[in-house]
Formats: sequence, C-alpha cells, structure tokens
Amino acid sequence: MRKINALDRQRTVYTQGATGKRQLIPFQPNLLAQAAQQRMSPAAWAYIAGGAGLEQTMSANASAFDRWRIVPRMLRDVEQRDTGTAFFGHTIPAPLFLAPIGVLEMVHPEADLAVARAARQLGLPYVFSNQASVPMEHCAAAMENTPHLFQLYWSRSNDLVVHFLQRAEAAGCSGLVVTLDTTMLGWRTRDLDMASLPFLQGKGIAQYSSDPVFRKLMAEPDTSPKPSTRLSWDAIRTLIQANRNFPGSFWKNLRSGAGLQAVRTFVRLYSRPNITWADLPFLREHTRLPIILKGILHPDDARKALDYGVDGIYVSNHGGRQVDGSIAAIEALPAIVETVRERVPVLIDSGFRGGADVFKALALGATAVGIGRPYCYALAINGQAGVEELLSNWMADFEITMGLSGCKNLAEVRAAAVVKI
Ligand code: FNR
Ligand code: LAC
Repeated sequence: MRKINALDRQRTVYTQGATGKRQLIPFQPNLLAQAAQQRMSPAAWAYIAGGAGLEQTMSANASAFDRWRIVPRMLRDVEQRDTGTAFFGHTIPAPLFLAPIGVLEMVHPEADLAVARAARQLGLPYVFSNQASVPMEHCAAAMENTPHLFQLYWSRSNDLVVHFLQRAEAAGCSGLVVTLDTTMLGWRTRDLDMASLPFLQGKGIAQYSSDPVFRKLMAEPDTSPKPSTRLSWDAIRTLIQANRNFPGSFWKNLRSGAGLQAVRTFVRLYSRPNITWADLPFLREHTRLPIILKGILHPDDARKALDYGVDGIYVSNHGGRQVDGSIAAIEALPAIVETVRERVPVLIDSGFRGGADVFKALALGATAVGIGRPYCYALAINGQAGVEELLSNWMADFEITMGLSGCKNLAEVRAAAVVKI
C-alpha cells in the first residue's frame, strides 16, 4: 500500500510543473469532468454524468455543502497528522471509499478491475457494484487484503440473491451494501433523450452472466411479451454487443442466442419494487456479513434500520439519479446521525467533490465518505493510474484541510466546529 504524504504530493505537483510536467487528472472538479467527457462517447457521458429529471437533486447535492462552513482553529500543533480510521473490521488510511458504480466498461475497457487495483494501491475500500462489468471474484482477487464490499440489488429471484451473497462471502467481502433507492431506474432525461440504456447491450451485467443460478434462470421459459424487432443497423449492433459481452465465444453465443437471452433475463429479474422492511430478515438469515442499507435519507428509516439490526447506514440519494428534487445527502445527515447515536457506522455519498466536503461530513458525524463520479472521470482519463492519482489527491486535500482547520486526527475532526449559515 502506498502511503500518501499530503505535502509531498503537493510539492511533487509544483516541482514537476517547474520542469514542464502537468498532472493528467485535473484538480478542479469541473475541469476533471470536462476532460473525462472528451474521452467518452455521448451515450457514456449521458449515463455517467446524468441524473433524474431536471437534475435538481444533483444541483442540491453540490450547493448544500456551501451552507455548512468549517470554523478553523489555530495554534494546535498539527505537524503530525493521522487520517486513519476504522472501517468494518479494518483500519483504512483515510475516511474514504469508492462507491459502487455500474457499467464502468462504458468508461474504460479495464472497468472495475482498474478501479479495484487503484483502490488497493491506496488501501481504500471499494464497493463492487451489482451492475459491474467485471465479476466480483476478479476484483476481489485484485484487492487482496484491502477491504471490499458487495452492493446488492434485490432481484426478483431470491435464489439469485442468496447466491450473490454466497459469492460475496467467498470473495472475502467485509460487508453487504443493500441499495434501496433503485427498485426502478429513475427518470433519467439524458438517457431517455438518447434512447440509450447500457444494460440492453449486455453491459453492466457481469455479476449475472458469470452466475450459475442466473444461467439456470436464463433457460426458464420467458412469458413476457417480446419487443417487435425491426431489422436495422442499430438492432444488429445491439445483437453483436450483447453476444460480445456475454462470456464465451461470440459465434457460439450468437448461435445459441445467449447474449440476448441474458439481457432479457436480466430485464425480467433486475429489481423487485415490492420489497419492504419485512424482507430484511431474509438477508440476515442468509449472510454473516455486516448489512449496510444504502439510500437512507429519513431519520425514521434510520431508526427502523436499527430496529432490524442492520450494521451500517449509508446516506445517499444515488448522486441525484433517482428522485429529482430530493433532499441533499449532506442535509439529511445530521438528523440521521442524531438518530443513530454512534450505534453503527454512518456512510455517506452524493455530491462530494473534495477534501472540505469530506471534512464537513465527518464533523457532522459520518464515518466515511463515498467517492462517486469523480473516480469514473479519472478512470476515463487515465485508467488505473488515473484513479490512483485522483485518490491520492483526495487524500492529500483532506489531510491538508484537516490540518489547516486545527485537527490532527479524525477524533478531532469529529469534534470540530462546522456551522450552518
Ligand atoms: C451509480 N450509483 C450506483 N449505486 C449503487 O448502489 N449501485 C450501482 O450500480 C450504481 N451505479 C451507478 C452508476 C453511475 C454511472 C453513477 C454515477 C452512480 C450511485 C453511486 O453509488 C453513488 O451513490 C453516487 O455516484 C454518488 O454521487 P456522486 O458523488 O457521483 O455525485
Ligand atoms: C445506476 C444504477 C446502475 O445508477 O445504479 O445507473
């Protein structure tokens, strides 16, 4: 694991600049997004960068941070700084983790594997998406002892759910993140305008197509109405993509129809909008892993989660991709922290773009912060090395913000003053 020294990182940037070398990953979030956009197809950009409806939740995620202000303290000897913290049985070097992001093959050919390798280099946890482009076992092998978690979408097949849980345990995951806010995909205006959904080309379904239970489900008769397929170049392209993305030989998949059958089976099973609190014990019965609920925004839901014995709360509005006009995650945090009262860790993501945002969340009681789109952008720009660079920058930024605010460690950050204006 590479140790990050914030001042060394900062010095390197400036000294390399003096000899004409610029860093590949822009530091300003808007420049980072712009540079990534130049390397992505319009459909990939729409999917990754976009949100639901008018994207007001995305704006709220960004602007809400501005209503909280850090009150730095002086003369407190911050020469020795320690950003390490506990995280589900591990010690991690900074209160950061990589949030689950699906369909990374749209961003870079090495997709999740590049992210797993980068996370390992920095020792930061990575939550493998249920909609990953690389099966969890491959990423887990790349992570070695660095903590990794599996994110579950509760599908219509409980057999498949149980098998995903077993695979996550066998892959050495430290926790199960159950995402509750995406029982259906949000009304994503950019994707709708492009009439583009990556799953239909067999992208982002590697956890399924690598799974023996899913393979069995593929063979079941499908009674759902088949869409009328007019033969067109786009239809042929979709057919080719779906068979290319399915494991095994392209020609064999084309002959057997496996690629399209996998897509159809995925669409049939993807999610179960009828899950309720009463279903949670089913997960508890089938896994020993800590269960963390993602997408909690109301303190009453946090209270209920504790009543059901969950092991972690993950405050998130899915980066504004689900409910437009939703409360910003950071706005929802204080009431949830008050409800949880340190009984379980409280994770958070949605709209975090730098060290000061992370500081505010910790001062408001979060345990760790999930990085979302920014690491996808770094992946688009420079693959694994790009993600490593981005993570190093976030760690350095957080450490410097912490020190300059008068805090030597996370205990002091958690006690630090942030005020609402
Ligand atoms: C996501 N997110 C997500 N969450 C999840 O639980 N499972 C998933 O498969 C995905 N997939 C996904 C794809 C893309 C392209 C994005 C941008 C996001 C949500 C993700 O975990 C996280 O909540 C948000 O990305 C946080 O918001 P920011 O930081 O991206 O604004
Ligand atoms: C998304 C799903 C995959 O946000 O979580 O696109």
